[in-house]
Amino acid sequence: TAQQTTVTLSADKPSGQISKHIYGHFAEHLGRCIYDGFYVGENSSIPNTEGVRNDIIAALKNLNIPNLRWPGGCFADRYHWKDGVGPKGQRPSIVNTMWGGVTEDNSFGTHDFLNMCKLLGTEPYLAGNTGSGTVQELSDWVQYVNFEGKSPMSDLRVKNGQQKPWNVKFWGVGNEAWGCGGNMTPEYYVGEYRRYATFMEGKNLFKIASGANVDDYHWTETLMKGIPLHMMDGIALHHYSFPSWDKKGPAVGFTEQEYFETMKTALRMDELITKHAAIMDKYDPKKKIALVVDEWGGWFDVETGTNPGFLYQQNTMRDAMIAGTTLNIFNNHNDRVKIANLAQCVNVLQAVILTNKEKMLLSPTYHVMEMYKVHQDATLLPVVVKSDDYVVGNEKLPAVSVSASKDAKGLTHISAVNIDRNKSESIEIILSGAQYKTVRGRILTSAKADDHNTFEKPDFVKPAEFKGANLKAGKLTVKVPPFSIVVLELE
Ligand code: AHR
Repeated sequence: TAQQTTVTLSADKPSGQISKHIYGHFAEHLGRCIYDGFYVGENSSIPNTEGVRNDIIAALKNLNIPNLRWPGGCFADRYHWKDGVGPKGQRPSIVNTMWGGVTEDNSFGTHDFLNMCKLLGTEPYLAGNTGSGTVQELSDWVQYVNFEGKSPMSDLRVKNGQQKPWNVKFWGVGNEAWGCGGNMTPEYYVGEYRRYATFMEGKNLFKIASGANVDDYHWTETLMKGIPLHMMDGIALHHYSFPSWDKKGPAVGFTEQEYFETMKTALRMDELITKHAAIMDKYDPKKKIALVVDEWGGWFDVETGTNPGFLYQQNTMRDAMIAGTTLNIFNNHNDRVKIANLAQCVNVLQAVILTNKEKMLLSPTYHVMEMYKVHQDATLLPVVVKSDDYVVGNEKLPAVSVSASKDAKGLTHISAVNIDRNKSESIEIILSGAQYKTVRGRILTSAKADDHNTFEKPDFVKPAEFKGANLKAGKLTVKVPPFSIVVLELE
């Protein structure tokens, strides 16, 4: 049965730009994200450029990834960047105490990462160590990476083979300072932030304060109150989706209840952004400070037989639902959310790419990111959605999520997600304030909610042409199957 949802799209009320940076990614020294993921080393038989897999470079370039956060995560507050520069043979091996207790040989360091960002055509976002590091160490990193003239750190950079500075703009001042970044109180972190940020010197730095865990509104309030606005550019927020933190359940083969609970946490992103943004509005009514959701995504049990510290999980149509609804939420909050990072890019948590030796696959989440890239830097067109319910037991969620934008060429794109696991949604979109002649689109759908791609069948789930849109007299009707995503292009 098809249910009925109505949407009103106001094409004549453009509502500012959707920052492309909300389509950002995250690469931590965690499990097989960097080593045996992005980076296989110069001597690998897998085709690579400076040790980075060519197939990954090509796939990510196709997504136009706007920024990439590195080296953590929790690892960032354990990372001493000087270990990762200079001749590879002379770099110290350390223990990755955070993730799996494995040896970290530092063969992938600052030069490797920043040069990889060049290959990917993406902007680096470096997360600084304010947990186990020092003010001097972070101040030195900024100078090493960004200073053009002569200085101890820029001299060292030149000696290590990089003449020109990389001019990195995005800097995280610690990560999860309330937890793995040092178990600080917000009051204490405010003092730490002010000290570290003072000595991160240079032009055009975009400094991001370590932000709240989920609904810790006191954290956001304390930072907004305690850090002068001219000293920061963004405040982070982390929020993951799962049936419950203590019982995450399998990534494949989940029950409908687990699916529903996961979508409930994912959709909660809207409430979290609204409430954190309301606090920010009190102190920053001009919205100078960005809300930076630099960790989001689905978090499930690791695949059987893999290292529990490596957070390797499959990626199904449920993950596609998390991605589609979350990105719609970010688009619709474009006035405050300016940067976001899916956790994580390769082989960790809700990855867009999985690898197995020489093989690589693109996950359903990859395809969502690819379908949604049309929204990057486009102008938001507001939508009002009157959604039907997705009901399980005594609980319900809105079945449909929508966002819309107009790009530089004048094309309008509508992304619509139906999370209902059982029913199709017939969506009626009233197009007000513009006249459209044609509609075309693509759909990501599959027979089962836990359908996914495998190394044997890497193209099992992939976008297809969508033929279910009907445009007539300013009204668009679209039929979206259960747990499916449609992106339409109107001209
Ligand atoms: O993304 C995995 C971990 O989740 C990150 O390292 C940390 O910041 C968060 O708790």
